[in-house]
Parts: sequence; structure tokens; C-alpha cells
Amino acid sequence: MISHRSAAGMLLLASALLGASALSAPAAERPGRAQASLAKGKEIYARECAACHGVKGDGEGPGAHIVNPKPRNFILGVFKLRTTPSGQPPTDDDLLRTITQGIAHSAMPSFRELPEADRRALVGVVRQFADIKTAPRPIAIPAAPEVSAALLEKGKTVYTALKCQTCHGDTGTGDGASSLTLKDDAKGRIWAPDLTTGVFKSGDDAKALYARIATGLDGTPMPSYASQAKPDEIWAVVHYVRSLAKR
Ligand code: HEC
Ligand code: HEC
Repeated sequence: MISHRSAAGMLLLASALLGASALSAPAAERPGRAQASLAKGKEIYARECAACHGVKGDGEGPGAHIVNPKPRNFILGVFKLRTTPSGQPPTDDDLLRTITQGIAHSAMPSFRELPEADRRALVGVVRQFADIKTAPRPIAIPAAPEVSAALLEKGKTVYTALKCQTCHGDTGTGDGASSLTLKDDAKGRIWAPDLTTGVFKSGDDAKALYARIATGLDGTPMPSYASQAKPDEIWAVVHYVRSLAKR
């Protein structure tokens, strides 16, 4: 016969085991916690993001029409700032970086002051709007080479060989002939940025700039160069672009 005490003990043991297995399961297998985080994220989204990105995530918030570029329509699932190949969704870290840093040269603010758990909850909301169900894999980025005069010279040669000047101009100031007619996927007017300001949507991290040139800015005329250039050529042009700002 089982005494009261041992029945209670078994209950305790069972709940401890359940607790332990819930803790060791990966995030995706913890529906309770994931749902709580998503609910929290939706609350923060309504307060911080909906004015621009719209309650439905379609980029049609009341503030959307006074800014250029327009806030992203998440439903289309097209993202500019990724470490994943062109045409693929961003990783959670890519979205977290964007939400944390904001996007220079645009109305997208930085949410650095929100606790990380809140920013991660917002990542979940964006993923849901964009219907991202997989865990996209980032491209491999080899270690950065040492910057030298020879590397910058090589970067300049790559810049010309890949015809970056047709949009960004011979000296990188954004005055290439094609820049006069560029449009983004939403048919909005878009310009090739002045690379000499040293301020990038990707932030000032060299690796992020490598990803930008290797994978492009999806939804814009800025192409992915992963298939046209070797990793050492991409690194050379990244450092050449960074050197333009220092002059
Ligand atoms: C004041 C308007 C505004 C607010 C508020 C705002 N955004 Fe944005 N957001 C933008 C604009 C504009 C862009 C497009 C920038 C561009 O294309 O360069 C953007 C782009 C984005 C992108 C796309 C990045 C990419 O790789 O293409 C994400 C993700 C994003 N915002 C998330 C959020 C989240 C989450 C919030 C709330 C915490 C938020 N935004 C609040 C204006 C806003
Ligand atoms: C067809 C025109 C075109 C060509 C060719 C082109 N770009 Fe761009 N590039 C753009 C546009 C447009 C943007 C801005 C997109 C935006 O702001 O959403 C851009 C953005 C950039 C950025 C800014 C990224 C950031 O994080 O803000 C860099 C750096 C860049 N291009 C470098 C290059 C280099 C290097 C090449 C050649 C290997 C090149 N581009 C070729 C049109 C072009």
C-alpha cells in the first residue's frame, strides 16, 4: 500500500523530472514558454513598432507614408540585412542586430534600451509575420585579412572589375550613372549610397559589411556578389570601402 508520504514524494519526483526535461529541451520544444514570449512580443510590438510597420506587419502604419525608405512590409518576407544567401530569410541574430542597432540612413530607430528578452520576443513577432519557419543558415565568412596598402589596392581593382562604380561612382560618392534611375522592389525611388560617409545600414562592423556585399540587400538593386567574387576579393573590397571613409 502506498502511504500519503510516498505518494506525495512520487508526485514531487515526477514534477522534478518533468521540470528537468522541460529545461533541457531546446527552445522550439517548449511551447509554453515560446507562446508566453510571443504574447509579450506582440504587446511590445503594438507599443513600439506598429506606428510604422502596421498592426498587421504590412508596413502600413500611420507613420509609414512620411518616411523614405518606407518601413518594411514583413509579410513579403524580404529582408535587406542578412548573413544568409540572397533570397533566404534572415537568422534570428540578424533580426536581433537590426532591432538593437536600428538602421542608419532610415527612420528605423535603435531599441538598444529594451531588455534583451524583449528584443528577442520581438524577433519572434517579426518571424511570425514573415512566416519564417526554418532556422536559416548564415554564410561562412573567413577570418579578416590584415589591412595593408596592397590589400586596399587590390580592393580598388575589385571595385572596378565588379563595376560597383556604375551605381556608387568612381570615388564611391554615390554618383554613378545608374544611381539616377534606381528603384526598389516596391517601385520606390532608391539611391546608391555615398560610401565615403562611413555610416552603413549594417553598422560599422567589417564582418557585417562582408555579409552585405556577399549577400546583397534583398529587395533593392544592390546585388549579391557571392557567385562573382572569391572570399579574398570580397574582403579586399570591404576594406577598400571602409578606407574611403577615412580620407
Ligand atoms: C519610426 C518608424 C519605425 C519604427 C517605430 C520601427 N521601424 Fe523598423 N523599420 C523602419 C524603416 C523605415 C525600415 C526600413 C529601412 C530601410 O529599408 O533601410 C525598417 C526596417 C525594419 C526591419 C527590416 C530589416 C531588414 O533587414 O530589411 C525590421 C526587422 C524592423 N524594422 C523591425 C522593427 C521592430 C521590431 C520595431 C519595433 C521594436 C520597429 N522596426 C520599429 C521604421 C520603423
Ligand atoms: C545596380 C546598382 C548597384 C551596384 C552595381 C552596386 N551597388 Fe552597392 N548599393 C546599391 C544600392 C541601391 C544600395 C542601397 C540599398 C538600400 O539602402 O536599401 C547599395 C548599398 C551598398 C552598401 C551599403 C551597405 C550598408 O550596410 O549600408 C555598400 C557597402 C555597397 N553597396 C557596396 C557595393 C560594392 C562594393 C559594389 C560592387 C562590388 C556595389 N555596392 C555594387 C546599388 C548598387
